[in-house]
Amino acid sequence: MTHRTVYVNGDYVAEQDAKVSVFDRGFLLADGVYEVSAVLDGKLIDFPAHMRRLRRSASELQIALTLDDGTLLAIHRELIRRNALEEGMVYLQLTRGSTGDRDFGYPEAETPPTLVLFTQAKALVESRSGREGIRVATQPDWRWARRDIKTVQLLYPSMAKMAAKAAGADDAWLVENGVVTEGASNNAWILTHEGVLVTRELSHAILPGITRAVVLEVAKALSLHVEARTFSVAEAQSAKECFVTSASSFVTPVIAIDDVKIGDGYPGKVSQQLREAYIVESRRRVM
Ligand code: PDD
Repeated sequence: MTHRTVYVNGDYVAEQDAKVSVFDRGFLLADGVYEVSAVLDGKLIDFPAHMRRLRRSASELQIALTLDDGTLLAIHRELIRRNALEEGMVYLQLTRGSTGDRDFGYPEAETPPTLVLFTQAKALVESRSGREGIRVATQPDWRWARRDIKTVQLLYPSMAKMAAKAAGADDAWLVENGVVTEGASNNAWILTHEGVLVTRELSHAILPGITRAVVLEVAKALSLHVEARTFSVAEAQSAKECFVTSASSFVTPVIAIDDVKIGDGYPGKVSQQLREAYIVESRRRVM
């Protein structure tokens, strides 16, 4: 069993030697944000966009992030190098740190945040879910009201995924007021029978996916009509195609929602075309 090298507050250490305080607010209060950047051929996909979103998440919660993008890029690259990561993800976790006590109030401004990065290998291009699609089960969206901030409060998405698995599906789509917000860890899309690609408009209700933004560009380049609007579960179930997007799954076809087959129950043509075009575009954007 090989041990990864992880990054903790300025140091590269073996994962079994990495330490964070038991009083860290990330651990006690889920007071932290994170990012997940995909790695293809040992290089980062859409790194600047991920760092922009990280800065926005941190600033919405007034968590300090003093390192500039060049330094963060160097840390990501060093971890990829030390772990010989060819394909997978780099996770960046940033918490409000620790004052050595538990208190609801934010600590003094000089309390340093905790910054941890680690790699996780995963086959992203040649994946079974990418090839065969996934089945999703709907779950009520019981997350908080600021889902545009990428916080480490992932208990409910985790519960929703477990409930979806218990229902025989692979993942969960979250539903609020009769409309789909997003997947438990991805953005949700449908293709109507009229050939219009639909994904929910950005707001506090969903995470502004970096993959979503690139797929929107790719779709436009392929001359697809795109609408950013909400859709119901019934509309998705009777759509021509459905898929999800995220850094860790790219474009993944959805072949059933609550046991209702989408189309003929196989990955849709446009979903597959977008997946391929997204991978081509990402290879152009790596750094
Ligand atoms: N999840 N919506 C939610 C709730 C997410 O957690 C994610 C990402 C997305 C897609 O965002 P992006 O395209 O930038 O990855 C949408 C990551 C991959 C995760 O938590 O593992």
